Amino acid sequence: KSLCPFVDPLPRPATVAAQGSIKIGIYEITQQMHRDLPETPLFAYGLSQAAATVPGPTLEAKWGSPVQITWENQIGAAKHPLPVDDTIMRAKPVSGVPTVVHLHGGEVSSLYDGHPDAWFTKGGEKGAAYTTNVYTYGNRQDPATLWYHDHTLGFTRLNVQMGLAGFYILRNPSVDNQFKLPRRGFEIPLVIKDFSFRSDGSVDYPGGGSGSHPVWEPEFFGDAITVNGIAWPYLEVLPRKYRFRLLNACNARFLDVGFSAPDVTFKQIGTDGGYLSAPVVRARILIAPGERADVIVDFRGQAPGTEIVLTNRAAAPFPDGDAPGDNGQFGGTAELMKFIVRKKVAKSERPRKGLFALTKFEPAADAAAPEDAASDDAQVPGFMQTLPNLRGLAPVVVERWLTLSESEVNGGPDAVRLGILDGEKNVPMGWMDRVTETPRNGATELWHVINFSGDAHPIHVHLVKFRLVSRYAFDDERYGTGQCKFNTADATSSCVQTGTPLPIDDNEAGWKDTVRMYPGHVTTIVLRFTSQSGAGFGFDPTKGPGYVWHCHIL
Ligand code: C2O
Repeated sequence: KSLCPFVDPLPRPATVAAQGSIKIGIYEITQQMHRDLPETPLFAYGLSQAAATVPGPTLEAKWGSPVQITWENQIGAAKHPLPVDDTIMRAKPVSGVPTVVHLHGGEVSSLYDGHPDAWFTKGGEKGAAYTTNVYTYGNRQDPATLWYHDHTLGFTRLNVQMGLAGFYILRNPSVDNQFKLPRRGFEIPLVIKDFSFRSDGSVDYPGGGSGSHPVWEPEFFGDAITVNGIAWPYLEVLPRKYRFRLLNACNARFLDVGFSAPDVTFKQIGTDGGYLSAPVVRARILIAPGERADVIVDFRGQAPGTEIVLTNRAAAPFPDGDAPGDNGQFGGTAELMKFIVRKKVAKSERPRKGLFALTKFEPAADAAAPEDAASDDAQVPGFMQTLPNLRGLAPVVVERWLTLSESEVNGGPDAVRLGILDGEKNVPMGWMDRVTETPRNGATELWHVINFSGDAHPIHVHLVKFRLVSRYAFDDERYGTGQCKFNTADATSSCVQTGTPLPIDDNEAGWKDTVRMYPGHVTTIVLRFTSQSGAGFGFDPTKGPGYVWHCHIL
């Protein structure tokens, strides 16, 4: 049986003001994710269980207004509903489902950063790094499209697949209001995530191992695409401009997103960490797990009734896996959602009662918004901000050579590990090994990350945003074998083919917190371990359990 695409309207998660003191629970809920699917048992964030949704509510934060969020684990189940792997390091509660929340892209004290060992259960069990479940977010960084999701050691992939993710949008009116961007009902966040469903509606997640590992599935690819918690939804749009915030919340699937209509393009205005310097026009945008794209799409000139599909072309695994397509039971991963151009968007775009009970969501079309396309006074700005040039981020005080590799551990299954170079030798390291990246507060660092593995990895660094400097191919026959000569003075190696860097896409030139690192390449990023506001972090970044960096393939 397959699921018919584009039969359910796109919902919009409710917005919650992230100001003052609020409480958000983590609940067990059920939610119907397609007209023809039974209700799916999920984990969900919400102000109450009745209000909890997948994805979670969009937290709307305002620059300069800190928020204190009490994250409450209300999951009563004794055991996780998805296969837990005892052969990898994980949180080990005696009973209950451990959770901890990370604000991805947030400039946050490590006490409130969702350290993987800072998990807690409903019953009060706690990980070694736990100090509190009351987190303060200062909201003093540049306005950007952030997101929040679970971050528990050994459970992140399972908790996120059960639904624990949502948008966190930080606005700064004195920056944002310089531009006449589409607002209210015409600014729509899109959380894209692949799922697999069993016929009873429950979330299917592999636990039988991948061949190289007895339980753990290093890369999960679902065969159903959901947007805002609905499988292949449609959205009725007016012939006018919209602002979409795209988030790839898939555990492993890269998305190469475009439109079925060649005359519809993206004008990308922002990346993970805020505005680009100027809009970038693109037919397609590649978004790896964890990355975000802030785009304007103009439907003007489209005749009423025109249907435009948001498509995906990314291979899975990326870049050398299978092309997306009709890959079995539930339809295709080459299509994400559909836009239908209308003269008027009826209020009946509210979810249909009975057939599809989405009353917890807001209708994507804002009933209060003017419904007349002629009132489209939104503009694509010509210029957003001056980004410091890469040399302007210097002086670089530390350079690090870091590695990504897959190797057998103790004759056992393959492990995928970060590592360091000792001289020229790759030293893969584990979670319990010593901390090797110890930047000084205020330092600017260059990280050269050598990808020895066969896949592209979206590498994410907590606390700070960074810029992409270069991606050079290396000689993987010789690299890491001790035959290469590194020149740390100019960051070159005799094994790096310095002549031909991979181009940096025009939409990667902004602030990033997650960046694609391709196999066979050394990716260099420049990181500045200082606050974005320039006024200091407002907390001591050397206090607390520290921060992680990692690949965002969960
Ligand atoms: Cu989005 Cu450490 O994660």
